[in-house]
Amino acid sequence: MSTLAVYPGSFDPLTNGHVDIISRGARLFDRIVVAILMNAEKAPLFTMQERVDIAREVFRKYGNVEVDTFNGLLVDYVERRNAQVIVRGLRAVSDFEFEFQMALMNRRLNAKIETVFMMPAEQYTYISSRLIKEVFALGGRVHGLVPELVEQRLREKV
Ligand code: PNS
Repeated sequence: MSTLAVYPGSFDPLTNGHVDIISRGARLFDRIVVAILMNAEKAPLFTMQERVDIAREVFRKYGNVEVDTFNGLLVDYVERRNAQVIVRGLRAVSDFEFEFQMALMNRRLNAKIETVFMMPAEQYTYISSRLIKEVFALGGRVHGLVPELVEQRLREKV
């Protein structure tokens, strides 16, 4: 049986922490879908199409990484895709409480789906999309923390 994993998130924007988790997932699972939640935030920095385009471009050379969008309950999307696993990244203990709640709620909603937590490389453990946006907006350097394409797109936004 081949294992299809779904890595859901807002990806506004995609960071090197996300890229690290996706590449680990691509080695571990037969196929991994980067599933971008539609309408998560009222005012996202990047439009849905921009986020999809960025992720597709970054993972262009990966044969088993797909980029898709979803709406509504994550477990319904996972079931519709016939996937077995939800992948989430755990950066620090502070992530744990919310992730634990979500994993157990998702299990209650659909017991056939397993959540698998993966740790990014240490150098990415403090990165979040929110911090990237804030630091960049205030003139700070985000080089090395996001893919070059994201850095370029951030510059175009200013
Ligand atoms: O990038 P994020 O904001 O950490 O991703 C959160 C996400 C998209 C995984 C979560 O908000 C989600 O699954 N939303 C879809 C709606 C849903 O299923 N909610 C119940 C979760 S227990």
